[in-house]
Amino acid sequence: MIIPHPSHLARIPGHFTFDATTCVRASDGAQGAADLLRTLLAPATGLPLRPSPTGRVVLALDPELGGLGAEGYGLTVGPDAVLLRAARPAGLLHGVQTIRQLLPAQALSERPESGVAWRMPCVQVTDVPRFGWRGMMLDVARHFQPVSFLRRFVDLLAFHKLNVLHLHLTDDQGWRMPVAAYPRLTEVGGARSRSMIGRSGSGRFDDLPHAGAYTAAELRSLVAYAAERGVTVVPEIEMPGHTRAALAAYPHLGNVPGRELDVWTEWGVCRNILGVHDEVLDFCRTVLGEVLDVFPSSYVHIGGDECPVTEWEESPAARRRAAELGLAAPKDLRGWFLGRIGDFLIEAGRRPLCWAEDSGTLPPEFTVMPWRDTDHGLAAARRGHDVIMAPHRSTYLDYPQTEQPGEPLGQAGGIVDLRAVHGGETVPADWEPAAAARVLGTQAQLWSEFVPTAEHAEYLVFPRLCALADRAWNPAGDWSTDFLPALLRHEDRLAALGIAHRTIPHPAVPPHTPRATSRTTSPRTISQ
Ligand code: ACM
Repeated sequence: MIIPHPSHLARIPGHFTFDATTCVRASDGAQGAADLLRTLLAPATGLPLRPSPTGRVVLALDPELGGLGAEGYGLTVGPDAVLLRAARPAGLLHGVQTIRQLLPAQALSERPESGVAWRMPCVQVTDVPRFGWRGMMLDVARHFQPVSFLRRFVDLLAFHKLNVLHLHLTDDQGWRMPVAAYPRLTEVGGARSRSMIGRSGSGRFDDLPHAGAYTAAELRSLVAYAAERGVTVVPEIEMPGHTRAALAAYPHLGNVPGRELDVWTEWGVCRNILGVHDEVLDFCRTVLGEVLDVFPSSYVHIGGDECPVTEWEESPAARRRAAELGLAAPKDLRGWFLGRIGDFLIEAGRRPLCWAEDSGTLPPEFTVMPWRDTDHGLAAARRGHDVIMAPHRSTYLDYPQTEQPGEPLGQAGGIVDLRAVHGGETVPADWEPAAAARVLGTQAQLWSEFVPTAEHAEYLVFPRLCALADRAWNPAGDWSTDFLPALLRHEDRLAALGIAHRTIPHPAVPPHTPRATSRTTSPRTISQ
């Protein structure tokens, strides 16, 4: 009953018990996984898991096991020994998470747990993920979250064998990425005077300033922390739209000379976007240069979504630029802009990534995240893009989970319940093989307009992220025979991890009937 559902698991008779004498033998290249096992088990169990060449728990890196791919692993738990093997270190890290799930849930606690036998069932596991990109996007621009929250999040992603934390670092309502060449981005762009109450267009505001930004040292340490857990942090710097915070800091980057703007206090799509003069492209390259210095990830996200082009249509300079470039209309500047920045990233040895919402033209070197409809993914794959599926109907965790009145405010336009997430097909069965082969994987998104606290974020993310992790690792896992029974067992683990999760549906209980014994936490009342 492991989440995500392993591609092959057989129970064999007996149990293995960790105790104070249990030692760990790690082959060359497996020390990182051995350290992680120790680090993760220490708080609850207090077990030293000393290194020893005769240890009964063996972690072995063996490049000959190429069939396990970059992230697969094999795990044999026998009554007297444990053998975890993989071709690459990432596979060992995933195997460590399986060991954690095989142990009693108390092993996940941050506090010492006494009187528990650290016993796990004997099993034979061979486990290989279907998709190489299994992620979660966190929007820390609309509501800032401290690095301590991000570290915890990395741990929760790794626990579910997810391997990407996509950080949405900039938007109209806040700029969180430190940039030494442009200090006002965080000094000015990192703070807004108030926030809209309720959904976009409500016209109502609270009176609460909201501010926050990371330091480069914090982000570097997050990247290292995540890498030790098999998670890559992928930064996103939005352009050319969703940039009102940058425009507040540096008005000359906009389309209207001499205009001063504040950091946006509303929700929705802001009409103010970057200009297209050379200084703007230089700005973007300088910012990204510093981003590349902090984030070693191969992929770098440059947003690209929801870019209203009215300001370009109204700007003589932008219209002139479009004409000089031979573009049919100012709206085509979006593709041109992203293409120039994409070239910069490619020259720097990185891969440009952006959102895709229509059939707009982008150079094929871009990997795209179709977020509106699954069909946009098919269209993008047919145009020759690699694709990471993020369709909102099954991966947007800021949508409400039910229509019940007690549910906190979420995005308008639908319900994304646990079933919808688990039912989301990363590659629909009717896609032709060439298009299907372009799909790198999938990820969940948590936009944070309506998510002011860590507790609220966890309520929205869990257990829906468990469903996404299950689909991304092993789409063959069945909802009712594999996932739901596993999730019921998983509930104790989520509780031990202290996650303020939403009620897990029990098949025996009609929907929406409160269970006297359920371990749930109500979300904090969210001002609406
Ligand atoms: C998006 O939801 N605007 C990517």
